[in-house]
Amino acid sequence: MKIFLDTANVEDIKKWAVTGLIDGVTTNPSHLSKTGGDPKQVIAQISSILPNGEISVEITEKDPDAVYKQAKEIAQLGNNILVKVPCHKEYYPIIKRLVDEGVQLNITLVFTLIQGLMMCKLGARYISPFVGRWDDIDVEGVEVLSKLRAMINGYGFKTHILAASIRHVRHFHYAILAGANVATVPITVLEKATTHVLTDQGIEKFDADWQKLGIKQFP
Ligand code: E4P
Repeated sequence: MKIFLDTANVEDIKKWAVTGLIDGVTTNPSHLSKTGGDPKQVIAQISSILPNGEISVEITEKDPDAVYKQAKEIAQLGNNILVKVPCHKEYYPIIKRLVDEGVQLNITLVFTLIQGLMMCKLGARYISPFVGRWDDIDVEGVEVLSKLRAMINGYGFKTHILAASIRHVRHFHYAILAGANVATVPITVLEKATTHVLTDQGIEKFDADWQKLGIKQFP
C-alpha cells in the first residue's frame, strides 16, 4: 500500500520524505493556495524532494478544451506528475483522450461506485474517492472504498483506488482494511497515526530499568 501526503507544505513534505515511507503527494488548488507563492515552483520543489514519488497536480481550468490543454501542460512538468481531473461527465471525452495519449490521470472528486466504474472503463490510473466529504453530509464515507474494491476486483480493472479526504486516523485505518492502493493522508493525521502512548511509555520504562544497571557503554 502506498502512502501519499495530502498537502503542498514543502517543509512538512521534507520532514516526512526522510522516513522512506512516502510514495507521493496530492496537491489541490486549496493546498497550493494555502502554501502561497508560485505554484509551479512549489510543485518543482515537491518533485525534487520526492524524485521517485508520484505528485498529483489538479487542473484549474473549467472549459473542457482548456482543461485538455492544461492537463497536457501539467503532465509536461515532470515524469512523476499525475494530472488530477474532476470526475465530471463534461470531462469524460477529454479523460478518454488524455488516457489514450498516455497522460497519467488521478480522477478526483469521486463519490460513488458508478462514477468509479466509469473512470475504470476510461482507463484512469487512479480514482480518488472522497471519504471525509461524504461524512460531512452524514453518510458513511468509507463504505465507497469497499464497494470500489469489490467492483475493480470483480471486473479485473487496472485502476488504483486512492483514498482521499482522509480526515482522521479511523479513515486511514478503514482505507487499509478496504484494500485501497493508496491513502493520501494529511500531516496531522499521519502524526497521530504514527504516535502511540504505549510505545512512548514502553521506551521510558525500558530506559528507567536500564539506567538502574549504571552501565556507561553498551555493547
Ligand atoms: C486529495 O487529493 C484531495 O483533494 C483531498 O484529500 C481533499 O480533502 P478534503 O475533503 O479534506 O478537502
